[in-house]
Amino acid sequence: MTKRFHRLALLSAALLLGAAGIVYQPQVAATALVQVDAKAITQKVCGSSCHALERATVSPRSRAQWEDVMSKMISMGAKATDEEYAIVLNYLATNHGRDAGAGTVNRPAGKSVGVLGAGANDKHIVDNAAADRGRSVWATQCIGCHGTTARGTDKGANLIRSDMMWSDRYGSDLMPFLQKGHPTQSGVASNSLSKTQVEDLSHFIHQRLYDTLRGSPIFNPQNVLTGNVKEGEAYFNGAGKCATCHSAKSDLAGFGRNNPVNIQQRFMFPRPRTKKLTITVTPANGAAVTGAPVHIDDFDVALRDDNGNYHSWKRTASLKVVKNDPLQTHVELLDKITDKNMHDIVAYLETLK
Ligand code: HEC
Ligand code: HEC
Repeated sequence: MTKRFHRLALLSAALLLGAAGIVYQPQVAATALVQVDAKAITQKVCGSSCHALERATVSPRSRAQWEDVMSKMISMGAKATDEEYAIVLNYLATNHGRDAGAGTVNRPAGKSVGVLGAGANDKHIVDNAAADRGRSVWATQCIGCHGTTARGTDKGANLIRSDMMWSDRYGSDLMPFLQKGHPTQSGVASNSLSKTQVEDLSHFIHQRLYDTLRGSPIFNPQNVLTGNVKEGEAYFNGAGKCATCHSAKSDLAGFGRNNPVNIQQRFMFPRPRTKKLTITVTPANGAAVTGAPVHIDDFDVALRDDNGNYHSWKRTASLKVVKNDPLQTHVELLDKITDKNMHDIVAYLETLK
């Protein structure tokens, strides 16, 4: 991690050479003199997507609060590598911080709390066991509207962007919200959920919130490789049914050469690589046609089949349109997989060198 950090830090520093700003020296670089222009990196990461940064830095925030600001930015599309993330967070916490012991607002550069420095006390700390319990409440009461990853559907809000959830701590805001009355999937009154259920939900939702930021507690490289390789392998070939689509010897051969954080990220949130989404259209009195979607709306549907032929239909009640999403299994996996399974799988995948 440290090595990679240095290399990337040097690279970023070189790329940003000449840009004015505060020179920041991460504490991890005690042995090597790596100077990173933290302010320039901060501006690069935040500049285009976060016009609010200037406004945000007016008021000092604790490290945890800056983490919240940053995860929100990332959930809204700001791009940062793990290294940039750490540098920016440190820059903000150091120069615009109010952590106890972190000094005053304009603390001199170079006196940082370290890239993986102490977290702050006002952060919601996710209890993974509670989050696992919360996941099943979520699956019975909330998932249909707010989605598997709490990012919302056309029926419910994206909770990753919910100010209320970001300021919630252990149900402090969610409880009164649900007490007032909110739809539930099963139809039970939302105020009949117990305090424990709401706390569990809060843990689950916070786990999703922190999921959006790499370098978070669950994407902390130090916590990623804690699983059991043998049990991961057993899950892969057994209950997880991974082996029905993947093979350690072919498509996932060498996958373990990725860094563990990326292994986890790519496994939990895969992108289609070899297999693409297709649709199958079946007219009332015709044969089914499958191909890559070209156009789908309420009125028309069009696709291109494997031979390159274009087909289009007017949509009617009798025209059947089915999406074949190769990642459907992975989407469903997010609801089912426990943290233990996840860590075991990551530990196993990491051995596929
Ligand atoms: C029938 C669909 C539906 C279900 C089921 C549902 N929600 Fe919602 N939820 C919504 C909609 C729509 C909104 C946005 C409007 C609003 O605030 O009421 C919302 C808003 C919210 C917000 C507030 C976001 C904000 O910052 O304003 C939270 C928190 C929330 N839901 C949590 C939950 C939880 C937890 C459950 C399960 C116990 C749940 N919801 C079940 C549709 C739903
Ligand atoms: C129904 C088929 C299916 C099942 C079952 C399945 N996956 Fe996948 N998986 C895919 C598809 C499709 C992709 C996207 C990559 C592609 O298009 O080849 C993917 C991507 C991945 C990736 C990322 C690969 C990369 O190159 O980034 C990993 C890792 C992975 N799956 C692991 C698993 C594990 C572990 C399980 C079991 C818990 C599992 N998958 C179950 C279909 C499946």
